[in-house]
Amino acid sequence: MSPRYPGSPPPRTPPRRTAVRDPDRCEHCEICETLVPCARAESRRVEDCTGCGACAAACPEEAIRMEMTEQRGTAPLTVNGEPVEVPVGVTVQQALESLGHTFGRFPGDGDHFAPCGTGGCFACAVVIGGVLQRSCVTPVREGMEIRTEIPQGTVPLRAVTGWTGHGVGGVGTPWQLQGSRPLIEAAVFACGCNLRCPQCQNWTVTYRGNERPETPREAAVRMTMERRRLGVSRMAISGGECTLNRPWLTRYLQELVQLNPDPAARLHVDTNATILTPDYVDDLVAAGMTDIGPDLKGYRPETFMAITGVADPDLAARYLRTSWEAVRYLADRYSGQIFLGVGIPYHPLLISREEIALAGDALCRIDPAIQVTVLDYRPAFRRRDLPRPGVQEMEEIRRLLTGTGLRTVICQTAHGPVGP
Ligand code: FES
Repeated sequence: MSPRYPGSPPPRTPPRRTAVRDPDRCEHCEICETLVPCARAESRRVEDCTGCGACAAACPEEAIRMEMTEQRGTAPLTVNGEPVEVPVGVTVQQALESLGHTFGRFPGDGDHFAPCGTGGCFACAVVIGGVLQRSCVTPVREGMEIRTEIPQGTVPLRAVTGWTGHGVGGVGTPWQLQGSRPLIEAAVFACGCNLRCPQCQNWTVTYRGNERPETPREAAVRMTMERRRLGVSRMAISGGECTLNRPWLTRYLQELVQLNPDPAARLHVDTNATILTPDYVDDLVAAGMTDIGPDLKGYRPETFMAITGVADPDLAARYLRTSWEAVRYLADRYSGQIFLGVGIPYHPLLISREEIALAGDALCRIDPAIQVTVLDYRPAFRRRDLPRPGVQEMEEIRRLLTGTGLRTVICQTAHGPVGP
């Protein structure tokens, strides 16, 4: 870390940004004021926009753009006990950046990890006035006392939502269970995602930054109650992207194990696996994870970029490589111990049949017995123009994949799962 304090050369002041709504595109859905944690929505004063960009990311109409605007002076506060001046009208993250702190989108990149940028994951949290708060969306205020090191023993937080019973399960659910009973899993969804998929199938969770955050214990207690209420053994967490806050997720699994000591309990994690390094996999297994569903977003980097909206080619290549390596590691290291089901996307406008076959070949080389679920991408979020692939078409994709040697291929269709 290389923060600059008084006495060192003046910091580069980041340009201030503000959100501008295009009235011709805006459909007045109010997502920008109700789903995201917006300082401007609270005060109703345009000048209170901090330029966090959460509303622009969440707007399904792409009606909000971020524009540069003039600086409004500086304000005094303290960072790690040192008095500093930072720009006003910005987020805590931007203020820290003005002091030389760096924020990365991959764990270990930069001084801080800020993967979602929309207030859901709390991975970017710092301690402000003794309270854990999100640096990416919290407005900077004069006199704040910011500590960037999280004290040992601080309980992590995460926004989770959508507690529900699942009749089909997710990518990491063994196919034999599907249809065995009306409900097979209790599920919850973590807010915030490091990807920006234009066709996001769960975008109101992904961009929900206004949800009250929960401790791992609170979420585990509620999940355990849901499990009992629904009469199921399986407890799933998905997203958004549930792996973004590693301390929270590992602790949540540990709490679930404590609350559900019976051998029937299954802890299922569905993930895009883009930051799921082998040591992270080991941590999840040690914490009690029993089932996992990495959802691969393509085989080629250019496809990954189109599907996920990640515009930085290096970051996209790294995310894609990490997700495939996670599948390889899980199959090599935990075969027979952890249930592994892999998801791959299909839509003719996003991924070719040739690439589906390449992905199938690669998965077959890892383990032909891996369960593979093909997800039929349907109209959602910013791609409401995508026609949902037909059942016949999905059957053809299933045959294509079984032709590569994969033995357990399921296709999600408008009529429910098909196969194996
Ligand atoms: S990066 Fe700030 S909450 Fe996710």
